[in-house]
Amino acid sequence: MKKLALLVSASLTLVISNPSFAGNPEAGKSLHDEANCLRCHTAQPYNPAKTNTYEKLVAAVSFCNNNLNAGWFDDEVADVAAYLNQKYYKLPN
Ligand code: HEC
Repeated sequence: MKKLALLVSASLTLVISNPSFAGNPEAGKSLHDEANCLRCHTAQPYNPAKTNTYEKLVAAVSFCNNNLNAGWFDDEVADVAAYLNQKYYKLPN
C-alpha cells in the first residue's frame, strides 16, 4: 500500500511538473497534419498579429475544429494549440 501511495504521488508530480501538460506539440503536429488544416491555412496563414493571446489561439483552434467536424477532444485541441504556438505564434502561456 505504501508503495502504491508513493507511485501515485510520483506520477502526480510528473504530470503537474511536466510543462507539456498544457498540450503536447508533437501529438498536435500529427493531429494538425491528419486534419489537413493547411488546405485553408496555406492561403490564409496563421497570423500572430491577429491571434495575440494563448486563449485566442485555443479558441481559434476550437472554432475550426467544431466547424470542420475534426472531432477533437479538448485535450487534442490543447495539443494542436501547443503545436501551432511552438511553430507559428510563440505566445506566452
Ligand atoms: C475550410 C477552411 C479552413 C480549414 C480547413 C481550417 N481553417 Fe482555421 N480558419 C479558417 C477561417 C475562415 C478562419 C478565420 C479567419 C478570420 O477570422 O479571419 C480560421 C482561423 C483559424 C485560426 C486563427 C487564425 C489566425 O489568423 O491566427 C486558427 C489558429 C485556425 N484557424 C486553426 C485551424 C486548425 C487547427 C485547422 C485544422 C483542424 C483549421 N484551422 C482548418 C478556415 C479554415
